[in-house]
Amino acid sequence: MMKRLLLALLLIIAPLPAAEAFPLADGREYVSLGGRWNYIVDPMDTGIYKYHMTLQKPTKRYFADRHFYQDKTTLIEYDFDKAPTLEVPGDWNSQSERLYYYEGSVWYKRTVDFHRVPGRRWFLYFGAVNYQCMVGLNNTILGTHKGGFTPFWFEVTDVLEEGPNSLIVWVNNSRGVSEVPTINYDWWNYGGITRDVLLVSVPEVFVKDYRVGFDGREISVSVELDGGKGCVSVEIPELGIKKKACTGNDGKAAFKFKASPERWSPDNPRLYDISISGGADRITDRVGFRTIKVEGERILLNDEPIFLKGVAVHDENIGINPGRCRNEEDARELLEAAKDMGCNFLRLAHYPHSEQMVRLAEKMGFLLWEEIPCYWNIDWSSEETYANAENQLLEMIGRDANRAAVIIWSMANETPCTPERFAFLKRLFDKTREVDPTRLVSAALQKEKPDFYHPVIDDELIALTDIISFNQYYGWYDGKPSVCDSISWSIPAGKPVVISEFGGGALYGNHGSTSEMFTEEYLELLYRKNLAMLSKIPALCGLSPWCLKDFRSPKRPLSGIQDDFNRKGLIDEQGRRKKAFYVVKEYYEGL
Ligand code: GCU
Repeated sequence: MMKRLLLALLLIIAPLPAAEAFPLADGREYVSLGGRWNYIVDPMDTGIYKYHMTLQKPTKRYFADRHFYQDKTTLIEYDFDKAPTLEVPGDWNSQSERLYYYEGSVWYKRTVDFHRVPGRRWFLYFGAVNYQCMVGLNNTILGTHKGGFTPFWFEVTDVLEEGPNSLIVWVNNSRGVSEVPTINYDWWNYGGITRDVLLVSVPEVFVKDYRVGFDGREISVSVELDGGKGCVSVEIPELGIKKKACTGNDGKAAFKFKASPERWSPDNPRLYDISISGGADRITDRVGFRTIKVEGERILLNDEPIFLKGVAVHDENIGINPGRCRNEEDARELLEAAKDMGCNFLRLAHYPHSEQMVRLAEKMGFLLWEEIPCYWNIDWSSEETYANAENQLLEMIGRDANRAAVIIWSMANETPCTPERFAFLKRLFDKTREVDPTRLVSAALQKEKPDFYHPVIDDELIALTDIISFNQYYGWYDGKPSVCDSISWSIPAGKPVVISEFGGGALYGNHGSTSEMFTEEYLELLYRKNLAMLSKIPALCGLSPWCLKDFRSPKRPLSGIQDDFNRKGLIDEQGRRKKAFYVVKEYYEGL
């Protein structure tokens, strides 16, 4: 009998409860479910609605591993076995001309062969699905998820069947006013199962979460078991650390070790092997030990002032593959370009990038700014929108809290100064400091312009941030590059300043006068003028020019110049370096 999957799709998919970390550290046993999945495009959501259904609640639908069912009849037009395939992980827009602009529902399906092993549990782990999804295995709905850039998982131990299993995922990347981000943003709305899908196997009692901390004198390790209590051991062999402790009934145990490890830093991205055992589980990770704090108008890394020589990056690497970054190779190419430019810092804009990107950046010695996509305007008055934003925040922190490279969590980008926005973001700031008091918290603000030549940074969010970060576009949206010579900034004193965006556009190879926009010469002059202007800011502690690489955006149609690319990259989508790249390189090397 054909296994049938009953999918009662909820139109409004509520986010899952607050995230916990599911450490995918090395040492986890998993099978990758990546590869070719069959897919059916469903612009009319036939998988949800019967023909009479319009604005009423969706009916329960039957969606089987070969056909759609409608009240026990087989919709033979919806046959996965005859359907084309998409590569997973991977966005659909860049895999099919017909899906280039597509925003709507796509149904994915693959078969998972399974053989049970006694004493083990299994989880289905998704690195990210943009934007929301419903996951079904055989005839069970596993759950839903909303938020396009953070991991989630479902336990499938009691759902998997011996032999072939039907895994079906409904994905919808439609934008929505009350979504996070909202309907308007300057990047491509890549839909699909965009990051890894893994079937993870763990012992019945396993390490559900662990947090490694360092305050300069002591290493702290907290461990949480799932499936029961038990004895936990922590080992950091190079530091001569090996200790056991038994958890309480809550499955939690905490350790503190006096230690003087080599500090992690961009110049010495020193990582240590750590192993954590609990029950029959043993996982390993590689962690760095550093301290980060603000002291007056300075940022101190390991108690020494540091200047963040950065650049902003989107999670896209067209030159290597035509859409969202899919693997470590995509990340490496971006990071090597940033390293060549002399960077020690990356603003991973405007949403959490992949775990591969974060881990590789840590190995290569980049300090990281990570952010959630509370971008431009959000439905600040909606409790559901807040829950969605907070869930994405917790999933981001849950995944990356053990990465020494991450020094800044950012709550937002260029949001309007309204009471609703302040109240919404204050809750996120408070939640961030509650779950992770060890890092700096900020947001990319924007200048107010009471007077073109005397911009003021006086966003009330500054009361909440550890650093003052703002975006400015003198020389591009605001006047010609020469205006930079006459700008005097009014910035509140007492906190470090990081310019989270500045720059302009140029088409690689488009040469002309310095007065002609979109020429490389114009951009080169813009960078020289901006760097000279920004260097005069007394509390300047960092820069992340916008941005490393030309990236796709439906807001950038200018034929012959943009052609759906935002051309503010210092390198173009093929990795070719514009003249402005060398201006930044020379500046950073001169610091
Ligand atoms: C804004 C925004 C970016 C955008 C950039 C631009 O500051 O933060 O996401 O791409 O400006 O206009 O290119």
